[in-house]
Amino acid sequence: MTSPTEVLDQASDSRWVSEAAWTGTRRPILQANALPAACYVDEAFFNEEKLRVFGTSWVCVGLHDELDAPGSTIVRSVAGQSIILTRNANGELRGFRNACRHRGTQLLDSDCTLGSTIRCPYHRWTYDLDGLLVATPLFADAGVDGFDPSDYGLHPVCVTTWQCFVLICLSDEPPPVAEWFGDLDGRLAGYGLADWRSQLTQSITINANWKLISENFQEYYHLRWIHPELSKVSRVEDHYRYQGNGMYCGQTTTPISADERGDWSTMPPAEGLNESDLASGRFIALFPNVLLSVLPNHVFVMRLDPIDAGSTREICTWLLPPAAPEVDDGDFLATRDFWLDINHEDIGIVQRGQAGLATGGYTPGRLSPRFEEPLHRFHNMLADRFTGSSQIPTGDESDDLPIHGNGVNPLPWHAHTPTGEGTVRP
Ligand code: FES
Ligand SMILES: [Fe+2]
Repeated sequence: MTSPTEVLDQASDSRWVSEAAWTGTRRPILQANALPAACYVDEAFFNEEKLRVFGTSWVCVGLHDELDAPGSTIVRSVAGQSIILTRNANGELRGFRNACRHRGTQLLDSDCTLGSTIRCPYHRWTYDLDGLLVATPLFADAGVDGFDPSDYGLHPVCVTTWQCFVLICLSDEPPPVAEWFGDLDGRLAGYGLADWRSQLTQSITINANWKLISENFQEYYHLRWIHPELSKVSRVEDHYRYQGNGMYCGQTTTPISADERGDWSTMPPAEGLNESDLASGRFIALFPNVLLSVLPNHVFVMRLDPIDAGSTREICTWLLPPAAPEVDDGDFLATRDFWLDINHEDIGIVQRGQAGLATGGYTPGRLSPRFEEPLHRFHNMLADRFTGSSQIPTGDESDDLPIHGNGVNPLPWHAHTPTGEGTVRP
C-alpha cells in the first residue's frame, strides 16, 4: 500500500513546496500579502493540499459522543481516503483504512453500530474491532502457502480525542497531540469540553474553498457590514487576539454582551466557569478544519470537509454543558436560529469571495494588521505544511498588545486596574 508519505515524495516537484512560492505569506504582517487565487480555485493545488495538509495534520472527523459506546462506528473521508473509526470491546478508539485485506473491497459505507466484528461483504473475511483478521471462510481449505492471518489485519490509522473532538492523522509519524494544540488545552481547561454533549447537528454544502470559510471565521473585520445583528452583541471593540503556541488561530470577545438580540445568552451558563470564561466568547480555528465557538452556555462547532477546490461540506453541531440546569427548548432553538442567521450571512459572502477569485485576474491584496493577523498566522501554517516545516507557531508577541488585546483568558475590560491586570481596551 502506498502511504501518504510516499505519495508526498512522488509529488515533491510541485512549485508549492518551495519557499519561493510563499514570499508574500512569509513577510511580516505589515508587509504580507493574501494568498494567490490558485490556492482557492486550482484543483491541482487542492489535490496537493489533501496530501500535504490533510494527509499530515491532526484532522477532526467528528465529536466524541458520536463514538460513545463499544461498536459505535463512523466512516469518514480524509484527504480522499476512506477511514473507519470505532470503539473496541474495551471502549478504546480504533481507526482503520476502509479496505479489506483480501482484495481491497470497501468494508463499510456509512456510520453504524457494529457488533463485535467488521465483515467484508465480498468473501466474508472478518475482522475484530482491533482490526485483527479473525475469519476467512473456505480459505484454509484452499491450500494457500504460508498464509498467516496475523499478517492481514486492517491497516491502522492514528486516532485520538482532544477536548470534545475525535481526530485522526494519516501520517506515519503523527505530531504529538500535546504539541499540536500547545497551550490551547490549558486555555480551554475551565470549560471541561470533553463532557459536553451534542444537542443538534446539521450540515450544508457551501460553494467556497474550505480556507475561505476558515479565514472568514478568523477575522472580525467584516462584522459590522456582514453581521449588523451580531455586531450588537459581539462588538468589534470587545475582540482580542487569543493565540498562544499551537496550531490554532483565535480571538476572544470579552465581554460578550446582550443588546437588542440576546438569543445566545438566554440559556443558563455551564457550572464552575471562572470570571473570564463566564464573560467571554472564544472563537478558535483549529488547524486545519474546525471552527470552534465557545460561549458560557453552549458551543457551536463547524467542521469543514473539503469536497473540491470550490466547495466544502460544513457540518454544524451545537453542544451543551453537562451540568447546566434544564434547558428550555425555546431558548435552545433561539440560540440555534441566531447561529443559522449568522452562518447564512457568512456563507453568502464567502461564496461571493469564491466567485471573485475564480473569475481570474486577482492578484494578492494586503492584510489588515488590526483585524486579519490570524489569517497571516493561518497562511503561514499552510505554507509550513507545503514546504515540509513541522514547526508549531509560537504565541503572540507582546509589543503590539494594545492593538491586538492581551493576556491568556483576559478579564473584561472594566476589570482593568492601574496595576496592569485585566484587559487593555484598544
Ligand atoms: S475482498 Fe474482502 S473478503 Fe474478498
Ligand atoms: Fe462572519
